[in-house]
Amino acid sequence: MVASSFRSQQATGTKQRFEKHGIGVAALFFAAITITPGANSHDVTTKVTWNREISRIVYARCASCHRPGASAFSLVTYSEANPWGRAILDSVLRRTMPPWGAVKGFGSFRNEQALMQEEITLIENWVNGGLPEGNPNDLPPRPIIPPPPEKLSRSGEIVVSGEYQFERPFTLDGFVPASRLPSASSRIVLEFPDRTVVPLVWLQDYSNDIAHPFLLRKPLAVPAGAIVRGLASGTALALIPVQKNGSKNP
Ligand code: HEC
Repeated sequence: MVASSFRSQQATGTKQRFEKHGIGVAALFFAAITITPGANSHDVTTKVTWNREISRIVYARCASCHRPGASAFSLVTYSEANPWGRAILDSVLRRTMPPWGAVKGFGSFRNEQALMQEEITLIENWVNGGLPEGNPNDLPPRPIIPPPPEKLSRSGEIVVSGEYQFERPFTLDGFVPASRLPSASSRIVLEFPDRTVVPLVWLQDYSNDIAHPFLLRKPLAVPAGAIVRGLASGTALALIPVQKNGSKNP
């Protein structure tokens, strides 16, 4: 409120000053319009543009949540994304976006949605190169949001907390954090009877706002006697077996 009335006072002051010098407001406007594009392109030091590369990355990797009516603020247009440029770069460099809730590289999952290094580099060049919008003809159609994943079949699941020892063989297909998790991270492993240790998942900053399953890249044959270790107190995990009825989880 204060800022805008200050600005309008300034504008009035400017107008009066120019009119005193015999320059009309229309002329002032015209001058501003012709100068602006030159001033902008001066700051641009990259060929990467929103319309060509960045919109495509955002549509594919971010728009499922960052669009009108979804869980986070919209990033689907240039004018929406531009003010977030620096924050977008920070979040993809720190790999907090897209949110996954687990440490990357600990366990291997078929539904993981990480950005590829080339995508991160494009975002970096775009933000550091002045966030150019680019040629409107390059802009792809508005994002097609993939349908939400089919409901997970969880029959035969075992919910574990603390340490858990399997009593019978189990073909593990994935798991879902089953309770509101404490902020403590959980580095969860499976210890086989021969003492071999296999990483399952390292939960970190997993929140129910982004609740999703972790589906193993390959099912894991777990023998009787194997032990799940590493769940922080208060953390429960539903272990999901490969589904018998042939309905494969996505
Ligand atoms: C699974 C949903 C989801 C996806 C996919 C996603 N985000 Fe987010 N993002 C969120 C939520 C939820 C927030 C918090 C929103 C809020 O506070 O209003 C957030 C916050 C942010 C923020 C704010 C700063 C911060 O770190 O809190 C930025 C920037 C951001 N996201 C960028 C991105 C980018 C870029 C992508 C794609 C590469 C992306 N997000 C993908 C859900 C998502």
